Amino acid sequence: MEEKLNETATQEDLQLLDSIYKENKDKDSVMIYLQKIQSEMGYVPQYAIKYLAGKTKASESHMFGVITFYSQFSTKPVGKNIIKICSGTACHVGGSKQLVKKLKSMLKVDDENPTTEDRFFTVQNVACLGCCALAPAMMVNDKVYGSLTLEKMKDIIDTYIKDAENEDM
Ligand code: FES
Repeated sequence: MEEKLNETATQEDLQLLDSIYKENKDKDSVMIYLQKIQSEMGYVPQYAIKYLAGKTKASESHMFGVITFYSQFSTKPVGKNIIKICSGTACHVGGSKQLVKKLKSMLKVDDENPTTEDRFFTVQNVACLGCCALAPAMMVNDKVYGSLTLEKMKDIIDTYIKDAENEDM
């Protein structure tokens, strides 16, 4: 078991899992462990599930059940910025199909691998953002952008990239 864990998790990852486990051992709640892992690591890796199954009474299948039931969890790494692009009816009529296609090709992501290689963006398709009057629309983190055009969408993405570059300087 330990050997298998080491194949995919770094020593640092294992230390982080150990500290999450120790800090929350008294509550012994799968939900709390998973929430902490999601928030500290940005997703719940397979090796974290194996680790928890080895430490707690919860089985791997139970944990997978919890992860798939609650949308707050992801088993794949997610980017620093989550882009939710709407494909709902109003947005579709407004041309969202082209926007989604362009966005994905621009960021070199697809449905299988929705996160950019540098883990800066994750693109998620959503059915409706609840702001149909602004169609076509998308959200980046908690900010809504409406009346999108290809140009506008590209500018928004560029702004996030430039802001991050300026932060690093
Ligand atoms: S259909 Fe896109 S926001 Fe409602």
